This record gives sequence, C-alpha cells and structure tokens, in this order.
Amino acid sequence: SVAIVRTRAELRETVASWRKAGLKVAVVPTMGALHEGHLSLVRAALERAERVIVTLFVNPKQFNNPEDYASYPRTEADDAAKLAPLGAHMLYCPEPEEVYPQGFSTTVTVGTVSEGLCGAFRPGHFDGVATVVAKLFLQTGADCAFFGEKDFQQLHVVRRLARDLDIPIEVVGCPTVRETDGLAISSRNVHLKAEERAIAPKLAEALRAAAHALEGGAALAPIVETTKAAILAAGFSKVEYLELRAEADLTPLAAADRPARLLVAAWLGATRLIDNVKVLPE
Ligand code: PAJ
Repeated sequence: SVAIVRTRAELRETVASWRKAGLKVAVVPTMGALHEGHLSLVRAALERAERVIVTLFVNPKQFNNPEDYASYPRTEADDAAKLAPLGAHMLYCPEPEEVYPQGFSTTVTVGTVSEGLCGAFRPGHFDGVATVVAKLFLQTGADCAFFGEKDFQQLHVVRRLARDLDIPIEVVGCPTVRETDGLAISSRNVHLKAEERAIAPKLAEALRAAAHALEGGAALAPIVETTKAAILAAGFSKVEYLELRAEADLTPLAAADRPARLLVAAWLGATRLIDNVKVLPE
C-alpha cells in the first residue's frame, strides 16, 4: 500500500532519506478523484524516477467559486487504493492549514502564458495554481514533475514558473488520456447528466475536424467560426474561447504556420469542459 503523509515535516524527512540513498524523486501534483489521466502521469513518473510522490490537495486558491470547491469530488481512500498497485511510493495529502497556515500572504503570478484562454475567464485561477505548485516543488524538492497536456495552459504556466524562480525541477508534459469515444477524461465529467455525457465527445470531434482542416491548409478564421457553430449545434450552451496558439510558447497565431495547439473551453449545462489538440502543419 502507498504511504500516506500529511505534514511537511514528514514529507521533508522522507525525501531527505531518499536523497541520502541517491534516489531520483518525481512528483505528480493532483487534486485527487484519480482517474486514468492521473494514473498515466504516475506510470510515466515511475519510468523516470526511483521514488514517486503523488500529491492530493484540493487547492482552495485556484477555484473561482465556492460551490465548485465544495462540490469537487473527494475520494482519498479510493485514490490510495488506485495508487497502491502501480507502485507509487507516497501520497502526500496535506490539510489546507498545512499548506496555507495563518498569516499566509504570498502569491505567485506568472505573466504572459497565464493571460488569455482560461486566464481570461477564471480570474486568479492561475495565481492559485502557480502558488500551490511552487510550494509543492519546494516542499518535495523533486527532480522531475509530471503534468498532463489536458491542461495545456497550466503546463506552460508551470514550466515558466520553474524557469523564472530557478526551481531545479524538470517539468514533463504527458499526452491527454481519453475515453474510448474521445472525451478527455476529467474529474468533472462525473457532473455530466446522461444526455450531456452523450454530447460531450462532440467537443473533441469538432477539434479534430478543425485540426485536420488546418493541417490541410484551410484559413483559420472560417474554421474557428464553423467549429464554434458545430459545438453549439451539438448541444453546448456556450463556447468561451476557441484559439490557435503556438505549441512551444502559447503565442497567439493567426495561421497554422508552425507546430500549434487548438484550445477550447465550452459549457455543457452546468459543466465547463476544456480540451485541446495538436495542429502540425505540413
Ligand atoms: P487535477 O485536475 O487533479 O490534474 C492533475 C494532473 O492530471 C494535471 O497535470 C492534469 O493536466 C492531469 N490530467 C487531468 N486529466 C488528464 C487527462 N485526461 N490526461 C492526462 N492528464 C490529465 O491540474 C490540477 O489538478 C491542479 O491544477 C494542480 C496542478 C494539482 C494544482 O493544484
């Protein structure tokens, strides 16, 4: 079974003993409710490091509304049971007071890559992510950290913060894991009603069709319009954004003239879904 650790002191002590033994340490930050997407990161981490820490912390600072924070699934016992057979070495589950003790006053803000996309619709979200991830990097002192491309903007925010703050950790991005019908796996998919769940894969389908057209040389603006229309016609209530950005640094693009990502956020009933696909021009 996986060792459950709840305090920074015990975390530090355990990592120090691993370091003394010369072992390479990886961290996989999560908010729990573990699914195949998370488990793929743990497997990738186990291939690259001799000790793997999975962190489970539902970070209040990155939620935009209290109901979303309150209704976020919390399944620690199930999460620990999923990690044990994989061979992860530690599940770090701190209480909010352990992460943000009385008087906590520091915020990490990452510029540029946090702006636009989800940053424009979720004020303060990436500050919350950057602050907690910086703390987890420093608390664990891990050699490498694993993040999913599912949250492509977050991956860029985390890479930037490690570079800018001189945190000596390698940030590794891993491909999005999908259900067999193409829906990107997400902890929030449990909120989808049956009829919404049937509609949800249309988001990835629309992205794939758009990527294919762009790779074939189609102009961006009309593709963005027809793709938004297709998403709405499928039954989504709102498209927050649909944008083409450079794969390497998230620069906004007006044409698929270099390796790129097409990124989307859309509402299906009361659930907000995000997804992205690669666009690789000839
Ligand atoms: P969470 O949503 O739990 O996701 C934890 C990690 O799993 C992130 O790196 C995310 O990109 C990855 N992930 C989620 N769904 C995935 C999928 N279908 N395929 C591949 N990877 C997937 O992201 C967070 O938590 C938080 O913001 C966190 C980084 C832990 C900071 O609080």
